[in-house]
Amino acid sequence: MSGPGRAAATTRVLHALDEVESTQSVLAGLAAGGAPEGTVVTARHQTGGRGRRGRAWWDRPGESLLLSLLLRPRIDASRAAQLSLVGALAVTDALGTAAQVDARIRWPNDVLAAGRKICGILLEGAAGSDGRLDHVILGIGINVDQTAFPDELGERATSLRLLTGRSHDPARLLEHVLDALERRYAEWRGQGFRRLRAAWRERAFTLGRPVVMPGGTTGVAVDIAEDGALLVRTTAGPLERVVSGEVETIAGAPVGRD
Ligand code: BTN
Repeated sequence: MSGPGRAAATTRVLHALDEVESTQSVLAGLAAGGAPEGTVVTARHQTGGRGRRGRAWWDRPGESLLLSLLLRPRIDASRAAQLSLVGALAVTDALGTAAQVDARIRWPNDVLAAGRKICGILLEGAAGSDGRLDHVILGIGINVDQTAFPDELGERATSLRLLTGRSHDPARLLEHVLDALERRYAEWRGQGFRRLRAAWRERAFTLGRPVVMPGGTTGVAVDIAEDGALLVRTTAGPLERVVSGEVETIAGAPVGRD
């Protein structure tokens, strides 16, 4: 990974593991030991895969791309959440180039294809004593070769195989994902989220849809701000910014934008 303000890392350091509790935990240990930016941990299977908000992330061995990437941008910790937007955009790039799948981003960081979730992203970070970020671990789980999902996920999840009708190799997809992450991260390092905003809008699932905001307020998601906040025209009228948390999209077709 490289970008302005930091010397380019010339090699990717890849730890390709078979079975781990969570690639996030393995990489957190490596980060604490001083591992460089660009260090990647992958696994064929996780016994305790973690999702957002304390949820579990399910996988069956060999069917998913499970990876964690270490980033060390010297930024204020308040900007860290933008990295999940960067990650989601990169995943849509990779799904397009690797499998010609037209994927969409549900703010902030779910990737959907044909209306179902194909990828989840988990951002875990540590701030230094100066309030600046020490590191971020970007965890990405992509459903690659599943032909079926557990009942509780069935209607909401999809995989590359289900979408394309053919088998895909998680290791090959990894190269596409890392290339895309490197490119999008460099763009973000250079010019911030404003550089990615147009591309994000083009891939957005959320924009134009009725939503319920974290506090329960309803409205329509109309845009994404230069800092990555979701802009919602509330039912009561005012435009509000959502900077974190889950925004529930309500079923139905997009209703247009401001
Ligand atoms: C979510 O949608 O809730 C986020 C899921 C993130 C899953 C990935 S799989 C690789 C990495 N290791 C984990 O334990 N979680 C992330």
